[in-house]
Amino acid sequence: MDLRTYFDRMAEHWDDEVTSIDEARRTIVFLSEIGEQTHILDVACGTGAMFEAYQEKRPKHVTAIDLSEKMAAKAADKVKNNPMFEVRCEDLFQIQDERYDCIVIYNAYPLFTDKKQLVKKVAELLKADGRVTIAHGAGKEVINLHHSNVPEEITSELLSAKDESKIWDEYFDIDTVVDTSGFYLFSGKRYTTKDI
Ligand SMILES: C[S@@+](CC[C@H](N)C(=O)[O-])C[C@H]1O[C@@H](n2cnc3c(N)ncnc32)[C@H](O)[C@@H]1O
Repeated sequence: MDLRTYFDRMAEHWDDEVTSIDEARRTIVFLSEIGEQTHILDVACGTGAMFEAYQEKRPKHVTAIDLSEKMAAKAADKVKNNPMFEVRCEDLFQIQDERYDCIVIYNAYPLFTDKKQLVKKVAELLKADGRVTIAHGAGKEVINLHHSNVPEEITSELLSAKDESKIWDEYFDIDTVVDTSGFYLFSGKRYTTKDI
């Protein structure tokens, strides 16, 4: 099964499991240094789990993308009258010629099975000195257990945050790593001197 089909099927009941804003999401926004001048790219936004947390910081703009049409439609519906948000049904790897201050990947990292390709794409889409944050609102054991029920061709096992973050070193100064039983995050700034 491909990713798009899988998540199109999950979309109808996805929000049954997604709770409202919590401390994990506030922490992600805080550690990502999101403020009023920030243009965010929310990669794999799903139905918009991070939206409320962004809104509290009144960022300049949020571009939210998801390759599942049904997930993106649900996300778009939540912010249809809010000019702060643009929701697009799009694959991350199709985005060209755009630059962001901050890129957030929440609860989706294992789905990017080619990590080198992901690192390069994120580096390409971030402004020099821009920040990437990869996070999960649960610990690695819970995430890996959850993903053992996802078709293996569309997911990968999550390593410790420290080990996962090593592959990002080529383009990013990873300055924050959190790896507890209830929260997983690593975050860093793009090197200004490193070209793609
Ligand atoms: C587990 S869901 C999480 C969604 C949301 N961030 C949340 O926390 O509820 C992962 C999402 O990643 C999306 N996705 C996976 N690969 C993607 C890609 N290359 N580009 C855009 N979206 C992608 C899927 O369509 C799916 O909706």
